Amino acid sequence: MIKPAERMKNVKYAIRDIAVLAKQVEKEKKVLYLNIGDPNRFDFDTPDELKNAIINAMKGGHNYYADSQGIKEAVDAIVKHNNNLGIETDESNIILTVGVSEAVNIFVASLIDAGENVLIPSPSYPLYSAYINLYGCVPNFYTLDEGNEWDINVEDIEKRIDDKTKAVVIINPNNPTGGVYDKKALKELVNVAGQHNLIIFSDEIYDEMILEGEMHHIASFSEEVPVITCNGLAKNFLAPGWRTGWMAITDREQRLGTAKDAIMQMGRTRLCTTTPMQFAVKPALEGNRLHREATIKKLRSRRDLTHKRINEIEGLSLVKPKAAFYAFPRINFDIDDKDFVTRLLKEEGVATVHGSGFDMPNHFRIVYLPPEPILNEAFDKIENFVNRMRK
Ligand SMILES: Cc1ncc(COP(=O)(O)O)c(C=O)c1O
Repeated sequence: MIKPAERMKNVKYAIRDIAVLAKQVEKEKKVLYLNIGDPNRFDFDTPDELKNAIINAMKGGHNYYADSQGIKEAVDAIVKHNNNLGIETDESNIILTVGVSEAVNIFVASLIDAGENVLIPSPSYPLYSAYINLYGCVPNFYTLDEGNEWDINVEDIEKRIDDKTKAVVIINPNNPTGGVYDKKALKELVNVAGQHNLIIFSDEIYDEMILEGEMHHIASFSEEVPVITCNGLAKNFLAPGWRTGWMAITDREQRLGTAKDAIMQMGRTRLCTTTPMQFAVKPALEGNRLHREATIKKLRSRRDLTHKRINEIEGLSLVKPKAAFYAFPRINFDIDDKDFVTRLLKEEGVATVHGSGFDMPNHFRIVYLPPEPILNEAFDKIENFVNRMRK
């Protein structure tokens, strides 16, 4: 028997683990999938002009290794787009990545030493603790404030900073809560990060999927604090399978120094990201976004339905999501959240993900991407299940 590496011990990814169980359950009964945040599995599709850009790139001979940071056309478009949003950056501070997922890997690998800790939200997208654990670093969880629309609580963040804290991650808009952070809180976070010499890593992969209110880019007012802003084609442009994302560094006072070289060095180790896909970046960022209105309209109506139906179930409560396509209801009765999700899947055929998989127990995550009839069917089943469990 060959033993896996010790470092894999704490590398977990609950979302895909539930998918494996769902496939087993599907052999016996129909499964309604409310567990994976992939719009293209439902009635959403990548805009044609982006598909054409890639086909043309391949036919036009752009099948070589690109520069490690990315093709010039994509890098320039990202700089322009970010600068338009107030996120100061330039060509030397951009790197195309294999989705935001690879950006997280590069960030932890190149900036965080084993034993150092990174502040990450609870609940949190599990990729963060997975990479932090992989490299022998320590996830340092701060709690998002459910009573305040899942906003960040900067006092709570500051309390957790110690002399091994290197960086703070924010996911704004948030997966799994659907929360969007208040500008005042973000400004306070900048102050705290400045006082403690922290880097801010801002995952903004859902920034064009705002259903209500306004989204603020922390790098647009981060002053001297270095910020790495990440984004990509997966969600805003409905192209998750293309695995195309990027990091944009804002470092007004050049505090990153050789740390920035380390990021670019990590980028060079994997040569480059898929070259043809990079040709969709400029048309995406500079395009007319004709897909956006229809996308937001569908999401808003599915979000409203989810919010209403879940809050009508005695024993559950849900803070209204403001962005993306996730809802994170609280389970207000005595049951382990993993049991809740496993039994819901096995007994009713509804796949969701347990809150502890996002480092916050007593909750579960619903992906409200499916059309209303499927959502209604799933909510009927969840209601039956909860009524049964509470007896
Ligand atoms: C908050 C967050 N960050 C990153 C990712 C992964 O993004 P990508 O597909 O660009 O790797 C996801 C995917 O669901 C996500 O929800």
